[in-house]
Amino acid sequence: MKKILITGGAGFIGSHVVRLMVNKYSEYQIYNLDALTYAGNLENVVDLEGKNNYTFVKGDITDKSFIDNLFKQEQFDGVIHLAAESHVDRSILNPMDFIYTNIVGTVNLLNAAKETWKANYAGKRFYHVSTDEVYGSLGKEGLFTETTSYDPKSPYSASKASSDHLVRAYHNTYGLPVVLSNCSNNYGPNQFPEKLIPLSINNIINKKPIPIYGKGENIRDWLFVVDHARAIDLIYHKGPIGETYNIGGHNELTNLELIYTLCDLMDEKLGREKGESAKLITFVTDRAGHDLRYAIDASKIQKELAWVPSLQFPEGLEKTVDWYLSNTKWIENILSGDYEKYYENQYKNR
Ligand code: NAD
Ligand code: DAU
Repeated sequence: MKKILITGGAGFIGSHVVRLMVNKYSEYQIYNLDALTYAGNLENVVDLEGKNNYTFVKGDITDKSFIDNLFKQEQFDGVIHLAAESHVDRSILNPMDFIYTNIVGTVNLLNAAKETWKANYAGKRFYHVSTDEVYGSLGKEGLFTETTSYDPKSPYSASKASSDHLVRAYHNTYGLPVVLSNCSNNYGPNQFPEKLIPLSINNIINKKPIPIYGKGENIRDWLFVVDHARAIDLIYHKGPIGETYNIGGHNELTNLELIYTLCDLMDEKLGREKGESAKLITFVTDRAGHDLRYAIDASKIQKELAWVPSLQFPEGLEKTVDWYLSNTKWIENILSGDYEKYYENQYKNR
């Protein structure tokens, strides 16, 4: 049985990747390693508890001796690395957590994999999951390709760019068998309600202001999370060693377009009058250094691995809204403690 370590599997995207791998590959033993930070939530993977090929390990990737021991003990065949501090606004408030987890944590995993696998790299694979934000910000035209120069603009994207460079450096210097991907904005079930879509869904339900940074003209390229998980599965199994793939939804929207669509949909779902939720839209101070536009050219993964998104945005958004409306307990459990403090601090002067 192959042993695959997935980091960050109690988070948003990680939980969908772990579910896909556990359910699809009974011949793999899947280890979900997560520190359960504010963003990690075992409720996201509750359906996997008790499955024979699934093991949860609580642990911190910044803890070098813990990581070294875990690799020595389990002798993993592969790693899919998603654990990260992932929210741009938090990186502006407190960059150091991003430096430790995203950079130091990644290097701890690279070193442990190198040490464990050094006698024979055959059949081994280290997959680093990254973001399109490493490429910086686009103007009105153009798309990010795999050869676009890195130009990260926030502490979050700079920390992810740094980890990408280190992963490639370990491939180039030590021959570590790596693959990477850079994906656009994900949305879907289980996303922590600090990110634009789930935060807005929650505020609409509770008739609270929907905070739109600046003029709401920034553009993101939205992809349903299950399609990202499908792409990760393909790249992990079929992407040639040393390659990078961009993943995106071909679905660019300004924040304001997105929020108006969401408001209309939620009015329908909540039996409210059309236009009622849109009244909650409130323009607030812009994010510092706010990237204007991200958009992915996903033609490489389409051509080489035959991946295309399976869901278009209207269908994906409806699935997402339906999930949040029928999982109010999930939101309630989160909306306490750290989240309240963070929300107060983040939006206090806006
Ligand atoms: P998330 O914040 O929802 O989840 C991150 C998970 O990592 C949490 O479960 C958390 O507990 C865990 N974690 C954090 N620090 C850790 C540490 N030191 N040790 C062990 N576990 C730790 O993030 P997400 O949105 O699911 O993103 C997952 C990955 O995908 C990240 O690497 C992110 O950069 C990348 N990504 C995200 C998006 C997006 O739109 N969300 C898009 C492209 C790429
Ligand atoms: O592009 C991939 C990235 O997408 C991932 O690497 C990040 O982990 C993920 O968080 C996401 O980053 P963004 O900063 O684009 O996502 P966020 O949901 O925070 O914001 C989306 C847009 O909405 C952005 O232009 C900022 C804006 N926004 C966000 C929040 C939280 C608002 O206008 N109001 C808000 O309250």
